[in-house]
Amino acid sequence: MKTLILEMPEDEEIRTAAEIIKSGNLVAFPTETVYGLGASALNTEAVKKIFKAKGRPNDNPLIVHIAKKEDLNELAVNIPEIAEKLINRFWPGPLTLVLKKNKVIPDEVTAGLDTVAIRMPKNEIAISLIEQSGPIAAPSANLSGKPSGTSINHVIQDFNGKIDCIIDGGDADIGLESTVLDLTSSPIAILRPGKITFEQLRKIIPDLVISSHVKGEVKSPGMKYKHYAPRAKVILAKDKIEISKIKKKYSDKKIKVIDMNNSKLLAKNLFKIFRESDIEGYEIIVVKTVKEKGIGLAIMNRLKKASLG
Ligand code: TXA
Ligand code: MG
Repeated sequence: MKTLILEMPEDEEIRTAAEIIKSGNLVAFPTETVYGLGASALNTEAVKKIFKAKGRPNDNPLIVHIAKKEDLNELAVNIPEIAEKLINRFWPGPLTLVLKKNKVIPDEVTAGLDTVAIRMPKNEIAISLIEQSGPIAAPSANLSGKPSGTSINHVIQDFNGKIDCIIDGGDADIGLESTVLDLTSSPIAILRPGKITFEQLRKIIPDLVISSHVKGEVKSPGMKYKHYAPRAKVILAKDKIEISKIKKKYSDKKIKVIDMNNSKLLAKNLFKIFRESDIEGYEIIVVKTVKEKGIGLAIMNRLKKASLG
């Protein structure tokens, strides 16, 4: 298959991509978090193509992306009052809400769950695409088990020749996937930490909890899979002394050290560094850990998963 690559398209060109979505095919597109691999959220056959292209286990549900806050009402039911506050504060943006699903959403999107994850991305190309195509189901644009694609090169590496269209929107601003918040559980829980932090959300949801798997254990769908993993073995080190011990222990290996104090930059570049390390053939990646607060919780969550197994 020849993949159409659209570079920094304007509305007119985005229409071509929207037609591809509407005809039941796949388009990789930029968002502010990571690139998404999109299909029409209301088309079962199209959604199945996402799982096939990624090699994604079909018990791992997808996020539905919308272009207007009001579109939520067509896709979810029994929306709790707190949702409106969260949406007014954080949408468009990197916050995904898990709600009871409307039956228009195919079971393939939600992996058979009676809930659906929905977000409105903060990226002009993504919004224009969704406005023209309707709601888009999209996981991160990466082969299953690989770090999420945060730049056009990653998406091309994984999907060129395998999908109909890839939209180049430049490097993703944030570099880590959205915060996933389960509004159907009591208390409300963060299922996946991201740019919108526990501290920010707790101001609106005082009894908010962080799901236990976030700090290591595995519980909900999709969370059990090894994610974000480069080929190299990832080892976490708490300080420079530990870094030098590890370097000594593996002195016969090709080792890369990631020691960054700026969390925002680390978040933005982590997946990129993982992918480049694969290409450069590193065998060990030693990463200095960060505090599990603010965006640090999301960074540590991804690092712990990458260091599994
Ligand atoms: O930033 C993002 O969220 C990116 C961009 C493309 O929007 N998307 C993304 O999708 O990271 P994906 O498929 O890689 O991750 C979706 C996460 C998974 O951990 C999945 O288990 C969870 O959301 N999820 C989706 N639907 C769910 C549901 N109904 N209940 C619980 N978790 C759900
Ligand atoms: Mg993913």
